[in-house]
Amino acid sequence: MVPPSAANVKSTKIVVVGAGSVGVTTAYALLLSGLAAEIVLIDIDKNRALGEVMDMSHAAHYAQAKVRVGEYEDCAGATAVIVTAGVNQKPGQTRLDLIKTNYRVFKSIIPQIAHHAPDTILVVATNPVDVLTHAAHRLSGFPVERVIGSGTAMDTTRFRHELSKQFGVNPRNVHAVIIGEHGDSQLPVWSLASIAGMRLRDYASQKGIPYDEEAMDACSKRTKEAAYEIIQKKGKTNYGVASVLVSILEPIITNGDALVTVSRVGTYAGVEDVALSMPCKLNRNGAHQDVPLLLDESEQAALRKSAESIKEVLDSLEE
Ligand code: LAC
Repeated sequence: MVPPSAANVKSTKIVVVGAGSVGVTTAYALLLSGLAAEIVLIDIDKNRALGEVMDMSHAAHYAQAKVRVGEYEDCAGATAVIVTAGVNQKPGQTRLDLIKTNYRVFKSIIPQIAHHAPDTILVVATNPVDVLTHAAHRLSGFPVERVIGSGTAMDTTRFRHELSKQFGVNPRNVHAVIIGEHGDSQLPVWSLASIAGMRLRDYASQKGIPYDEEAMDACSKRTKEAAYEIIQKKGKTNYGVASVLVSILEPIITNGDALVTVSRVGTYAGVEDVALSMPCKLNRNGAHQDVPLLLDESEQAALRKSAESIKEVLDSLEE
């Protein structure tokens, strides 16, 4: 991580809405990152938020920011507001199963955030994150660039982790993305996956190792099913998504122009006005979809299917 300039950090306030496991793990990761000068935690259960903040403030040896409990008026002047409020998946549930409850939560909190921080960037983590990113865009009235969902940035991280184990290289050296829905219709872009500038098949043949299609399919299957498996074992996910949220904040705070697969309202494979993940350029002004992605026919068709399935969910909510 490129250390941000002192100026960036000094002027950076980040608000985290939701003191559940994702919210507090994100606040803690941010506290240790040195990216922000002030972190405000908002939760309907103020006592719980106070307990989390008190505990975090004892990370004094490593803490690089002031952390405190706040109210929605404290969103004023925030560089970004991370929204993690809502219920999370229980074993056996899909992310889309959460939509009715979490859409109600968003109808209550997004207008309050937008009222107090009309120029901030919303970073949505609550699931189903694509539908709720779209809902947050409509409820806040913010331009699409300033409403970012963590989306398949999480899946892309998992995918690179799986491929790095398969090929024995550091995940940072695996260039591969998952796009579309942060959910069951997500799409691995195999045609563009590469290591050391070579497509995976070429890298394998240059290395003199077999390109094992079944092993590749197993990598994308483990990526898609990772959250279900973790939730089955420990009841939630928090560390992976918290680190992904900080990796989304970093280029926003440092104006870094980093390419990250995040969810944003746009047009995908011809389907308009829907939120899905594609590689976007992230900087101080939000998420910009000026990153070309050369998909083959089958990838375009799969992305269209993903877009159509998500679009129905939000439209049916607002009927
Ligand atoms: C996960 C949650 C964030 O995939 O959807 O871990």
